[in-house]
Amino acid sequence: MSPFPDQVDQIMAVMEASFDPAYGEAWNRRQVSDALTLPHTFAIVVDTFGRVLDGSVAGEPAGFVLSRHAADEEELLLIAVSPDCRGAGLGLTLVEQLFADAKTRGATRMFLEMRRGNPAVNLYKKVGFEPIGVRTNYYNLADGSKVDAITFGKTL
Ligand SMILES: CC(C)(COP(=O)(O)OP(=O)(O)OC[C@H]1O[C@@H](n2cnc3c(N)ncnc32)[C@H](O)[C@@H]1OP(=O)(O)O)[C@@H](O)C(=O)NCCC(=O)NCCS
Repeated sequence: MSPFPDQVDQIMAVMEASFDPAYGEAWNRRQVSDALTLPHTFAIVVDTFGRVLDGSVAGEPAGFVLSRHAADEEELLLIAVSPDCRGAGLGLTLVEQLFADAKTRGATRMFLEMRRGNPAVNLYKKVGFEPIGVRTNYYNLADGSKVDAITFGKTL
């Protein structure tokens, strides 16, 4: 879906603060803006109060989630909350808003893939995701080591 004028800036502000370069998980600006021009890719950005910044509400971006819809499934592609805003429920707000939006798009299942050992697993389990598969040594880390990808699924 086309981003509104400042949306890519908002996402990149959170992105640049949020990811440890050791894991190579952050997307660059081009990847974000290209993804959001696709018709079935969606972004939700929230401010420090958990309000959705949809172009009509102004606020300081504090977190975002990106997703892709296909048939009756939606994939959570990337989620991040700025380090100084973590532990306040914004991650939960983003995921719950995504579930609601995905359902309105006709999704009945939600998927995501996560690097084994990412503490984000606590958030995913809290909202009902269950591990459904492992891709062994799927991610290449900056130090040359490899780590498994774990696929999680949840019925909406
Ligand atoms: C994962 C992330 C989005 C969570 O955001 P957040 O706003 O801190 O999450 P919340 O405050 O809504 O936490 C929701 C629940 O998940 C748990 N949780 C979230 N992150 C956690 C962490 N790093 N360690 C332990 N528990 C965590 C919380 O304890 C909370 O449960 P509780 O209410 O029972 O305490 C954030 O840590 C982040 O941006 N991480 C870096 C980017 C990343 O790795 N993204 C995921 C891979 S794409």
